[in-house]
Amino acid sequence: MKLEKCITEANMNQNLLNIQYAVRGPIVDRAAQIEREIEKGVPKPFARVVRANIGDCHALGQKPITFIRQVLAGAACPELLGSSDIPEDVKERVRRILEDCTRGSVGAYSPSNGLQLVRQHVAGYLAARDGVPASPTALHLGSGASDLIKSVLTLFVADVRGKPPAVMIPIPQYPLFSGTLSELGLRQANYYLDEENHWALQLEELQRSWEQASVDAHVRALVVINPGNPTGQVLTRKNIEEIIKFAYDHDLFILADEVYQENIISKPFYSFKKVMYDMGAPYSSMELASFVTCSKGWAAECGLRSAFVELLNLQPRVLAAFQAARAVMQCPTVLGQCVLDCVAKPPVLGEQSYEQFARERRGVARVLAERAASAHRTFNTIPGYSCNTIDGSMFAFPRIEIPARAQAAAREKGMAPDEFYCLRLLEETGVCVVPGSGFGQRPGTFHFRTTILHPREEFQHMMDSIRGFHLQFLKTYS
Ligand SMILES: Cc1ncc(COP(=O)(O)O)c(C=O)c1O
Repeated sequence: MKLEKCITEANMNQNLLNIQYAVRGPIVDRAAQIEREIEKGVPKPFARVVRANIGDCHALGQKPITFIRQVLAGAACPELLGSSDIPEDVKERVRRILEDCTRGSVGAYSPSNGLQLVRQHVAGYLAARDGVPASPTALHLGSGASDLIKSVLTLFVADVRGKPPAVMIPIPQYPLFSGTLSELGLRQANYYLDEENHWALQLEELQRSWEQASVDAHVRALVVINPGNPTGQVLTRKNIEEIIKFAYDHDLFILADEVYQENIISKPFYSFKKVMYDMGAPYSSMELASFVTCSKGWAAECGLRSAFVELLNLQPRVLAAFQAARAVMQCPTVLGQCVLDCVAKPPVLGEQSYEQFARERRGVARVLAERAASAHRTFNTIPGYSCNTIDGSMFAFPRIEIPARAQAAAREKGMAPDEFYCLRLLEETGVCVVPGSGFGQRPGTFHFRTTILHPREEFQHMMDSIRGFHLQFLKTYS
């Protein structure tokens, strides 16, 4: 009898062994275990687990936008279009989408870059956003931004002049980037965001990171997350101009992760594309990939997996290879594309769905603004906490001082101090947040990321729990 498995830790793709994704990491696993323990009646000092680890608004109780769900219902089951309960503009939308689907069914594959109609609507949305023309041919739809970001990063898997490729990413970052770079065997070149300066991107730091990475690698691309996750900053136009110039001077391809562009609270959002075009030649012909998803913004339909990337100024042969690689995966989910159609071309004044749509959308924006202000205020009143204002996205990323004795206790357990802190927080209050070490942070600083979009009472309960826990933690370890 053979004892060895065909595939083992020693002979498998070693890149996969390096992937870490804290947003669904060990603390979240422990939260699920605690939930099961509560169900079985194991006594706990709290009644329930509060999940604040993932930016999934519907999971936190946000109601789906009615217009989107009606379009989905009609597209999946066209018989419903006979019902007088479905508004006329929804019926019209569904008819137009189904006309673009093979044999009128969302169950049929679409073109690999997405339905023509949806790409046309997305191009209209982008043109209105930026005041710059957008073409459906530059748009590629995907099953979530994660899917598309991986496809674009795959383009860089190639040694250049004998040096391995590297990609610059912000720290703190959303760990999709570090995880995907690990998976693809691309080197990660970290640049630190400036916490003291509202998480701005400093040019000297970009230069430092580039020089350090360039010693033994070829830096190919620069990732920017704007609005920031986990950091919640919105870059100023001037900062974006500086970054574009830096990328131009260093021959870097820009990946602009702009998935939170509809989650804007207090500062205007400028897309990299708009700023590049406004800067004119030579910047307007730089290569750029900009990502937008339906998982975020007011739609927040994470589970339907729908997003697009706009690819600008790629060499035709590179673009063709990208398209070929996408075609191998068939196409993104067609129901997801229906969501994107609604996001890109929502109801307008005068259409039957407009009033309800506008009310629901305003409600989402109001909750985000309220929670962001409240999280910022509360965290800055907890001793040892500091938190920048949250201008966009849907997270708070407070910095916490962890007493030396607690750091020593963490080391004894082989844990990072903020991991230890978050685990204690979970065990004692049921609040599940993600340690800053899962996103990266300046050595010697500690943070955690929490989502902020819980219903008001739950949010208040979470804030009170965190405050109470921290004061007790300080008593124990100071
Ligand atoms: C910054 C950022 N980029 C990309 C994604 C991926 O989103 P999705 O794959 O759900 O579209 C997320 C999800 O949280 C994110 O926060």
